[in-house]
Amino acid sequence: MKGLSLFSTRLWRYRGWVLGVVVAIVVVDLIGLIPPWIVGSAVDYLSTGAAEPRTLWLWGFLILGVECGRACMRFTWRRIAFDFSRRVEMDLRNEFMARAVRLPPSYFDRTTIGDLMSRATSDIDQVRMLFGMGLLTLFDVLTIVVTTLPILIWLNPTLTLYTSLPLPFLAVICWKVFIETHRRSHAVQEQLGDVTARVVENLNGIRVVKAFATEDVEKERFEQLSSVQVRLSLSLARVQAVFFPIFTIVFETGTLLVLWIGGSSVVRGDLTVGDFLKYVLYLGWLTGPMVGLGWTLSLYQRGIASMERLNQIFGLPEAEDGAAGGAAPGAVEFRNLTFRFAPDREDVLRDVSFSVPAGASVAIVGRTGAGKTALLNLLARLYQPPRGSIFIGGRDVRDIPLASLRQMIAVVPQEPFLFSDTLAENIALGLPAPEPAVVEAASRAACLHEAVERFPQGYEQIVGERGVTLSGGQKQRACIARALAVNAPILILDDAFSSVDAETEDRVVANMREAGRGRTVFTVSHRLSSVMDADLIVVLHEGRVAAVGRHEDLIRRHGLYADLWRKQQLEEGIR
Ligand SMILES: Nc1ncnc2c1ncn2[C@@H]1O[C@H](COP(=O)(O)OP(=O)(O)O)[C@@H](O)[C@H]1O
Ligand SMILES: [Mg+2]
Repeated sequence: MKGLSLFSTRLWRYRGWVLGVVVAIVVVDLIGLIPPWIVGSAVDYLSTGAAEPRTLWLWGFLILGVECGRACMRFTWRRIAFDFSRRVEMDLRNEFMARAVRLPPSYFDRTTIGDLMSRATSDIDQVRMLFGMGLLTLFDVLTIVVTTLPILIWLNPTLTLYTSLPLPFLAVICWKVFIETHRRSHAVQEQLGDVTARVVENLNGIRVVKAFATEDVEKERFEQLSSVQVRLSLSLARVQAVFFPIFTIVFETGTLLVLWIGGSSVVRGDLTVGDFLKYVLYLGWLTGPMVGLGWTLSLYQRGIASMERLNQIFGLPEAEDGAAGGAAPGAVEFRNLTFRFAPDREDVLRDVSFSVPAGASVAIVGRTGAGKTALLNLLARLYQPPRGSIFIGGRDVRDIPLASLRQMIAVVPQEPFLFSDTLAENIALGLPAPEPAVVEAASRAACLHEAVERFPQGYEQIVGERGVTLSGGQKQRACIARALAVNAPILILDDAFSSVDAETEDRVVANMREAGRGRTVFTVSHRLSSVMDADLIVVLHEGRVAAVGRHEDLIRRHGLYADLWRKQQLEEGIR
């Protein structure tokens, strides 16, 4: 039960609230002890034969008053408890999100968004219930047991001994249910992650689903997953369903003993009818929460299982940061860089070495899968490069704090991603505030401005989820504008023109040369004619540097580059 630390830190953080709940519960339960006492005493008073109606009225009103007071307090503790549990929920959700966005990108290679989503919703819900109703009932049961049991013993010790006989059985049953619920609710929550993942993936890929008309297949696959979820949930419900009746039967055996043994005492005259009534009422007062205990225990088990799932995320290492201190940015060096994504995978980069002076333009070319994106992701430390393999301004990127590294490098990713926000907000993502002038300048440089002018709302146009309302080329240019807006000394364009026509590409490249003087620019492009003017061209082949040089040198060498060049020249000739 590693989840418990999560529990205790929250309890401590909200100790004022917890104290409020506990005090209110204790008060409610203490008040609750009064009515049985009054009723019992009233019965004894009646059996004296000299009862006055006025005294009975008084007792009646007393009970009414007590119950009103109890109702008020009950309202108070529920309010405090629910308030508290909602706060814990908010807290957990915020912390979860903060944590999730800090996870290293490599984590997202291994998991699904749906899994994280189900943790952020369903698991946090379970934990909230644990903190709300769970905590409440636990304290309630404890207080009632602690206060009622002494009264029962005081009223009649022998009788209490007999009624306690079933207790060990109850303990065993509780324990069994505890273990089973834990196991089964873990399974339910895990599988719920799969179901959510499926929903997310299908809806994300809805256009592909429609294009390939696989709606029915997807529906069937989903129904299968759903039915597994039902089966697991039912198996969890079954444990609980068996538990309640057994619990009640065992407990009622106690009541049977009371009637039998207690009744005989009354007949023998050892016990007054009033005291017997008190005993029965107090026992009933104890039974209620005891039966509720079963439900609480299952709440605990589900809550703890969910907390463990949250802790799995909280316990993950964050993206590793470098030590403090700035570096003079600009010059970049790769030194014998060898990298693989996971220990059981092949090397995707092997012994890559080359250096780039500050302000140079570098083109990385090579076939798909050559490792170009991997190389640039390592430079931006989206993945962790080995120590001593990549240097910016003479400093190992591993030693540069991520916050300053991200200010040094602006990335246009190979797959453009926009948020469902306005175009202005998207372009100004890396800026403290979306200044219209900066947004427009960046957008002009990226050759996006003309297109934006034709949008009904211009830069205030909402782009839809992931930018679905834009064309591929517009999306890419919006991402380029976003990178240009931050004015970072190093710019990475990873295949940023794949959906942009050749003419626009050349214009953007010219604009950047104009605007970005002094910037070190890394460009991946499949159109060699757009990178032939680069200061340095690095040819990657199967993760190795095949050649480094300027365009003319590489053409003269008759290698891979010259091959590619010749082919592309032919193609352009045909066009
Ligand atoms: N996140 C990842 N996990 C494991 N392997 C990856 C990952 N990303 C890319 N690869 C593999 O690394 C190799 C290089 O990919 P990449 O750098 O994207 O090539 P490209 O030169 O086309 O940009 C490919 O074989 C690809 O399958
Ligand atoms: Mg790539």
